[in-house]
Amino acid sequence: MAGSLLADVEGARMRTVIVLAAGVGKRMKSDLPKVLHPVLGRTLVGHVLAAVDSALPGSRVLVVIGRGAERVAEHVAEQSPHASTVLQAEQRGTGHAVRVALDAVPDDDGAVVVLNGDLPMISPETLRALVAGHESARAGVTLLTAEVANPAGAGRIVRTADGAVTRIVEQRDASPAELAINEINAGAYAFDAGALREMLGKISTNNDQGEEYLTDVVGLMVAGGWPVRAHLTADPDEAMGANDRVELAALRAIMRDRVNAELMRAGAGIVDPATTWIDVTAHVAADAVIEPNTHLRGASRVESGAVVGPDTSLIDTQVGAGATVVRTHADGARIGPGATVGPFAYLRPGTVLGAKAKVGTFVETKNAELGEGAKVPHLSYIGDATIGEHSNVGAATVTVNYDGVRKHHTVIGAHARTGADNMFVAPVEVGDGAYTAAGSVIVKDVPPGALGVARGQQRNIDGWVARRRPGTAAAEAAEQALTASPEPGGSDEEQG
Ligand code: UD1
Ligand code: CA
Repeated sequence: MAGSLLADVEGARMRTVIVLAAGVGKRMKSDLPKVLHPVLGRTLVGHVLAAVDSALPGSRVLVVIGRGAERVAEHVAEQSPHASTVLQAEQRGTGHAVRVALDAVPDDDGAVVVLNGDLPMISPETLRALVAGHESARAGVTLLTAEVANPAGAGRIVRTADGAVTRIVEQRDASPAELAINEINAGAYAFDAGALREMLGKISTNNDQGEEYLTDVVGLMVAGGWPVRAHLTADPDEAMGANDRVELAALRAIMRDRVNAELMRAGAGIVDPATTWIDVTAHVAADAVIEPNTHLRGASRVESGAVVGPDTSLIDTQVGAGATVVRTHADGARIGPGATVGPFAYLRPGTVLGAKAKVGTFVETKNAELGEGAKVPHLSYIGDATIGEHSNVGAATVTVNYDGVRKHHTVIGAHARTGADNMFVAPVEVGDGAYTAAGSVIVKDVPPGALGVARGQQRNIDGWVARRRPGTAAAEAAEQALTASPEPGGSDEEQG
């Protein structure tokens, strides 16, 4: 069958994607290699690799590294384990970087796609269209271009009067007339492999920076009679890079707006998009509401009907349907459906809240599981603990989980009622339906249904103020009270 034969031939010719990430990024003024700067859940190069994985699965992916090679290689291995890295020991330009990478690619392979590592806004759709258009046209090169209001800094696309691309000219080598061109080179290309190899052998370093410019390949292809195509993106923001921290912040804001818009179009209620920062890796379901000044990072997810914020940061945290999370910082937590958290709660890794559970104000939890309907309403630290369903933990409770060497676990059963200001010195267990008295330091297990009391007995010394603090306002107030009702108020016990 002709069809399958063709498919086999195409299949044998593997497409190569080269991501350029060796550059210095001097203007960031940072120890961190430029491509590792984070933008909404991924690094700059991480965004590019994610677009490649989504748009061009099954390609051979090579990342050219140089500046901070070790850290970049480590990051690439984490983000795209199937990609390999190629070292460009000296950064002699984008053309040189591609030449170095091509040494690792067999001669008879398919198209070569080259992407700048600092092109984080490129969408998988655009990348797919760029490459598909190139492969079906059998062009020498197809480049991604964008028409932008301010082209400063970028390479300009020079065309003939009838619109054919003739070359790319870099900002620093451009004439005044060329500087007025507002169609720019985005930094994404698809090449015919053979033509690319041939032209890379011909590029010079005869330019303002004395570097080998990949962009010179375009003019050389035109001269060599190869079809040269431009793929103009409809969304010029896709071409945004970031050369310094000001541009990085601008990029981040645009990506934030893009993420928010996409979620809102899918039904998420984002009250104030300008102060809502949602990583590209996070998700908000339809009919969830995100209040102002809220950050959803990493693999966070907010389900339908939940309300998160204001003033909340969630990192790798799941919020179940209908839950509310107010003025909270949570990292690695799972919040069950209908649960309530905050205001001013701090949920740390390993926190799991059952359906309708409650973690209230000034409560910190860590490695703590609360059953359905269990409550820790006020001023508590709950670490290394399991609290059964529908139990209530009194205000100002601490699970004393650390003996200075090891961590120990506290178990509180179902339907228990623990008193205010309790210390649970772990390992310790409170049975189902048990109570504990306020102010208790619980060091021994409390059986189901028992009341655990562990505190000093109260002693009242009558007339102490009159004798020891005579003439004070306290003494006077006491005297008046005693005159009005001479029986002083009761003895001790059971005042919990
Ligand atoms: C490049 C393009 C320019 C385009 C712009 C889009 C060239 C000569 N110019 O310019 O036409 O408008 O991108 O942002 O290509 N890199 C290496 N090795 C090197 C040099 C650079 O790996 O020796 C990497 C960098 O890490 C970066 C990418 O290549 O990710 C682009 O390099 P950069 O210096 O940012 O190029 P621009 O001056 O922005
Ligand atoms: Ca750049």
